[in-house]
Amino acid sequence: MITNPRIEAYLATLVPQRSELLSRLEEEAAKEGIPIIQLASAQVMRMLVKLHKPKAILEIGTAIGYSTIWLAEAAPEARIVTMELDAERISRARNNFAEAGVAERIELIEGDAGRGLAKHYQFDCLFIDAAKGQYRAFLDLYLPHVRDGGLIISDNVLFRGLVTDPEAASKRQRPLVDKIDRYNRYLLEHPELETSFIPVGDGLAVSHKRSLGRS
Ligand SMILES: C[S@@+](CC[C@H](N)C(=O)[O-])C[C@H]1O[C@@H](n2cnc3c(N)ncnc32)[C@H](O)[C@@H]1O
Repeated sequence: MITNPRIEAYLATLVPQRSELLSRLEEEAAKEGIPIIQLASAQVMRMLVKLHKPKAILEIGTAIGYSTIWLAEAAPEARIVTMELDAERISRARNNFAEAGVAERIELIEGDAGRGLAKHYQFDCLFIDAAKGQYRAFLDLYLPHVRDGGLIISDNVLFRGLVTDPEAASKRQRPLVDKIDRYNRYLLEHPELETSFIPVGDGLAVSHKRSLGRS
C-alpha cells in the first residue's frame, strides 16, 4: 500500500462497475494469492488505453488474464499478445479469455518472455507486469517493437512504497527494491522515453516513446 489505506479504499469505491467475470477473478486472485494489478491502477490503465486507442498491445505477465481482459475491453479493436510462463495460469487465462468473448483477439505466448519475439511484431502499447527484477531487460527487449508515439505502462514501480524507504525492506526484498529504483531512473533518463510516475495502486510508470531527435 503506497497511499493512505483509507484513500485507497475510497478510490476503489469510485471505480465503475466491472463485469461479473472481472469481479470473480479479483476474488479468486485474492483468495489464492495470485498477483494481479490493483483496481485503481487498472482503471487508470483503462483510461490511458481508451485515450491512446492502440491497435496492437503487448503484455508481459498474463497471470490468469485479469489485466488482459481490462486491456481488451479498453481497446475493443486491438489485437493483444500476452506472455506467461506458468502452465496452470496459462490454462486458466485461456478459459477466462473465452468466457470474456475476447479469445480470438488474444495471442497467449507460453514461456519465458525473456526469449523475445520475431521482428515483425509491432505494437502501439506495451504493459510490463512480470518479474520485477527483469523490467529493464523486458524494456530493452521490447521497446524496439513499440512504434514511435507508443505508450508503455510499467506496474509496481513504487513496490509497496519501499523504493522511498529502502531501509524498511527486508534483506530478501532489498536487491529488488534497488533494482526497481534503478529501473525508474533508467526510464527517466532514457533518450527515447518521456515518463511520468503515478502513485496509484502499487505505482504506475507511464512512458511515451518518441523518436530520437524529436520531443
Ligand atoms: C503480477 S503477475 C501478472 C498479473 C497480470 N498482469 C494481471 O494484472 O492480471 C506476473 C506474472 O508474470 C509471470 N512471469 C514472471 N516472469 C515471467 C517471465 N520471465 N516470462 C513470462 N511470464 C513471467 C508470472 O508467472 C506471473 O503470473
